[in-house]
Amino acid sequence: MVFPIFVQERGMEILSIKAMPEMRITPLSKTIGQVQKILDAGISSIIIFGIPKQRDESGGAYAYNKNGIVQRALSMIKGNFGNSINITTDVCLCQYNFSGHCGVFKDNGKIDNDSTLHILSDIATSHAEAGADIVAPSSMMDGQVLSIRRSLDKHGFKNTKILSYSAKYHSSLYTPFRSATFSNKCNYNKLNKSSYQIAYTNPKETMREIQSDIREGADMVMIKPSMAYLDIIYMIKKIFKFPLAVQNVSGEYAMVKAAGRRGWIEEEEAKVNSIVSIKRAGADRIVSYFAMDVARYLD
Ligand code: PBG
Ligand code: ZN
Repeated sequence: MVFPIFVQERGMEILSIKAMPEMRITPLSKTIGQVQKILDAGISSIIIFGIPKQRDESGGAYAYNKNGIVQRALSMIKGNFGNSINITTDVCLCQYNFSGHCGVFKDNGKIDNDSTLHILSDIATSHAEAGADIVAPSSMMDGQVLSIRRSLDKHGFKNTKILSYSAKYHSSLYTPFRSATFSNKCNYNKLNKSSYQIAYTNPKETMREIQSDIREGADMVMIKPSMAYLDIIYMIKKIFKFPLAVQNVSGEYAMVKAAGRRGWIEEEEAKVNSIVSIKRAGADRIVSYFAMDVARYLD
């Protein structure tokens, strides 16, 4: 199980997220305390999502900055906990630009795939330098794994692993995450990423995306969201027999929390049911905002 943490560059206070009850946005000064709680719960893997205090047009500058939020969080957490924690970082542009898109957004309304690749490589390499065990490109740009692998090797990070978000479906279930992390200049409710995130109506495209990422050198591939994709998880694990991660995303968390809080479903059962279903379908690694809650049932 992997627990996601949101770290924020601005401010000193822990913030809550309206559409994700009980999830927190942590300032750097409180990050060590937060990670200690995760370790105490029995979870030893985290994925870091950064929220920068400044943004620019492409998103590059603040994402690969050596003193950026994710880089500082990494060196702080690794400095304190060393190898008792396994750290994955999300590698993307969308939190760091104004558009909320995962690639460089051109005036003609299109995403420039190839110029995005250089930026993603720089981001991933800066994360490796700051101590990331695994870098996880989530932008769905074609060629992202190969380009990052080359850059990591060239800079002496042969042992840094790549977890590719290979089959990331275009979905409204990312909305709570976007509401918490994107620029308020972008209309996160209306964002359309269907030109690069894949269609849930097209399983053949899933096969191609997984296959190309494995060929490009991914150490592990990811499918997300989770609950409406259990057939895909099962199929991909059966066909590729390759390390498979699954992310139970913010909208899936929000639905369970919303109904649970109203007493419309039994929240605890619903959480465990979700995680067990994902495991049963064939996931080797599950990223979930429920990880801490479910940890106590793992024995
Ligand atoms: C960044 C990223 C997103 C998520 C993970 N990485 C947002 C998006 O693609 O718009 C979503 C995670 C979640 O909803 O829990 N590309
Ligand atoms: Zn993105």
